[in-house]
Amino acid sequence: MKKIYLATFALLTSSVTWAQDNAVATANSNTATNNDWLLMTAISLLVFVCILMLVVIFQVTTIIQLVLLKEEKGAEKSLLGMWWQRVDRSLTDAIPLEKEETIMFKHSYDGIHELDNHLPPWWLYLFYGTVVFSIVYMINYHVLESAPLSTEEYNIEVAEAQKQIEAYQKTVAANLNETNVTMVKDDASINSGKDLFVKNCATCHGQVGEGGTGPNLTDAYWIHGGTINDVFKTVKYGVPKQGMIAWQKKLTAKDMQNVSSYIITLQGTNPPNAKEPQGEKMKEK
Ligand code: HEC
Repeated sequence: MKKIYLATFALLTSSVTWAQDNAVATANSNTATNNDWLLMTAISLLVFVCILMLVVIFQVTTIIQLVLLKEEKGAEKSLLGMWWQRVDRSLTDAIPLEKEETIMFKHSYDGIHELDNHLPPWWLYLFYGTVVFSIVYMINYHVLESAPLSTEEYNIEVAEAQKQIEAYQKTVAANLNETNVTMVKDDASINSGKDLFVKNCATCHGQVGEGGTGPNLTDAYWIHGGTINDVFKTVKYGVPKQGMIAWQKKLTAKDMQNVSSYIITLQGTNPPNAKEPQGEKMKEK
């Protein structure tokens, strides 16, 4: 019997550490399996509670049965009652009522005696189990450090989420086009737009957009429209017949968004040597 208890608790402890490792592992891979794991835990808890309730109900009925049996002595015990008595004894290791005298302490208080019963095995091994568990836990997490602690787990999950955010932003950037493009205003994007402009566009449009072979980009006059969507479209597809290159193969959508946004910030800067206006004046909004 003792062996069975020990085996059960060894199993329990290892399964708990496994569950914790598993939780970390799933946190690393993805959140969907993490939810599966939560569901499994909830179901096992529910099953455990049900079993516990059955045991309690059984216990209560046995006590009632015992009390009733005592009243009508000599009555035959049912087979179920006898089986349960055996289970009950192995769980509690209590000395039977008939032999209580043998474990009774000498002292008595107002006629109340104290019994020196054994600790119930289910309780005792559960207690040993917690001790074993704590040692396994301690070695696993604090000595061998084979699994991350809560703070590390948190950091791992945050890093994972960060990766997902970046992946999402990449797909958003890849889907940028002339209909959904918006003006970016942060310094990093505008500065990157400026760098791109100086490197790729300044030869034709001037160092500060004053114009040259290509039109002046600082005035309110546009041949192909001056909204962010128009500019993005011109940059993306170019005007090959007029000598404006299509940039979609050379720049990423995000780069084209940055450089287009930068061009719009040049509005009204009145640089020296500005080229004469071309196209139509854009209406004030
Ligand atoms: C080889 C010269 C050349 C280069 C390099 C060049 N462009 Fe142009 N670009 C032109 C010309 C020429 C036009 C005028 C097209 C027309 O007349 O329709 C133009 C037109 C434009 C327009 C439309 C202006 C309007 O009035 O509607 C924008 C915006 C523009 N370019 C942006 C850029 C950007 C951004 C770059 C760099 C990534 C760039 N261009 C590189 C020659 C160039």
